Amino acid sequence: MTYDTITIFDTTLRDGEQSPGCSMNTAEKLEVAGALVELGVDVIEAGFPIASPGDFEAVQLVSRTYGDRATICGLARCRVEDIDRAWAALEDAEQRRLHVFLATSSIHREFKLKMDKSQIVAAAVEMVSRAAGYCDDVEFSPEDAARTELDFLCEVVEKAIAAGATTINIPDTVGYATPEQFGAVFGYLKGNVPNIEQSVLSAHCHNDLGLAVANSLAAVAEGARQVECTINGLGERAGNAALEEIVMAVQTRGDYYGCSTRVNTNKLFPTSRLVSSITGMKVQRNKAIVGQNAFAHEAGIHQHGMLQERTTYEIMRPEDVGFVGTNLVLGKHSGRHAFRDRVDQLGYTLDDTVFQTVFEDFITLADKKKEIYDSDIAALIDNRIGEGVDFWKLASLHTSAGTDTIPTATIELQSDDETIRRDAATGDGPVDAVFRALERLTGIDARLEDYEVRSVSKGKDAQGEVLVEIVAGGRHYHGKGISTDIIEASAQSYLKALNKVIADSQAADSQAADSQAADSQD
Ligand code: KIV
Ligand code: ZN
Repeated sequence: MTYDTITIFDTTLRDGEQSPGCSMNTAEKLEVAGALVELGVDVIEAGFPIASPGDFEAVQLVSRTYGDRATICGLARCRVEDIDRAWAALEDAEQRRLHVFLATSSIHREFKLKMDKSQIVAAAVEMVSRAAGYCDDVEFSPEDAARTELDFLCEVVEKAIAAGATTINIPDTVGYATPEQFGAVFGYLKGNVPNIEQSVLSAHCHNDLGLAVANSLAAVAEGARQVECTINGLGERAGNAALEEIVMAVQTRGDYYGCSTRVNTNKLFPTSRLVSSITGMKVQRNKAIVGQNAFAHEAGIHQHGMLQERTTYEIMRPEDVGFVGTNLVLGKHSGRHAFRDRVDQLGYTLDDTVFQTVFEDFITLADKKKEIYDSDIAALIDNRIGEGVDFWKLASLHTSAGTDTIPTATIELQSDDETIRRDAATGDGPVDAVFRALERLTGIDARLEDYEVRSVSKGKDAQGEVLVEIVAGGRHYHGKGISTDIIEASAQSYLKALNKVIADSQAADSQAADSQAADSQD
């Protein structure tokens, strides 16, 4: 049987990044783009260039760095300035796509756009033609397609294809569709749009009813040959269709779908961890494919079956998705080679500098705890990702706390330019004292929204992972830290989040300086 290949269109950096608190800076976006390339996705939607100078810069940098290894896509509304800006951002990509969208449902036409059907068709045709004048790879999305009258949807799609759209993406923008109904939309388009074969049909599903993956797969069964999705299902509200679930469903049930993807599935788990680590959006333990429990068999009857024959209770092998469990792997005397091998086996691709730093962290950890598990190694790697962008680093930390003393934290921070700052604070407990001291040192007034600590592996000497969410200047920021000392992990995670606040305000300052310079040249 010959399998059709499904194009995997990743929108973690665009739709995923819109999720509150999940915004990434340019360096972080580049890091994620690199991981997506290694993962083998076909299209990376790197951002919405007109939205902000930061978005433009990210699309441009991803285009320059990875535009020869994946198709880089930029989003644009049906407006001249959007399309021109997106095209400018994509200029340096060898493989590039313009993605133009316009809402078509009656609710959006009446209340958001205040346009009638003929105006919608005219705008879509004009702007798709403009995009096609720049680029031979143009995607058109009728936003809220799942709630659009089918005959009108057919009309818009037919005219967009005639105007040059090579991919027609059908979004279920508000996650309203159900699998049978959404699949039927694709069947209807195939049967009623005369030029439909001149484009690739694509599904873009949101997860408000928890049906995003099921809806996307129903579309595949009805002929969609591109699926838009995000790592860990990241995205606004309940998120988008999860890439790892789509890919593994298509692979595991190739017999049913008759399709495959080009994704290197053993990179799914590390990519999931990377995105979780950068955004601070944690993955629930029982999440399909990449949750910590996804391959755990507790029930005795299951374990017995597995010992007889793995396939009795396992439909995918953990190693197929690069799953990192709590296997005991290395100890103090494992050398650099053994460590490098294990990092490779876990599906991580580290450059020499990051590898060296992580190896040093491993040696330090091996001095503190006897047994090092795969999950420890993964946590050490995640902890070093994107850290080059941090303005402040934790130079030293001392806390004192107990039943009859005022909890106190004394902290020393070192900045990029080697400046050292020291300060101390008291608090309700040692963690509170640490957070207060860090706020004084960085001069940032932040509110703690969420604080979580969990163990990375087994045993009393396990590393603790701390996740924090803070709000500063009205925006949400996440941070993560790991250490065998959870007070230190708390300090690292809070500092990580504060560093993101600083990076944002530095970016805003440099944009203001750029526009001042541009004004003075006029
Ligand atoms: O959900 C949606 O409709 C979108 C479009 C821009 C494709 O994200
Ligand atoms: Zn969307």
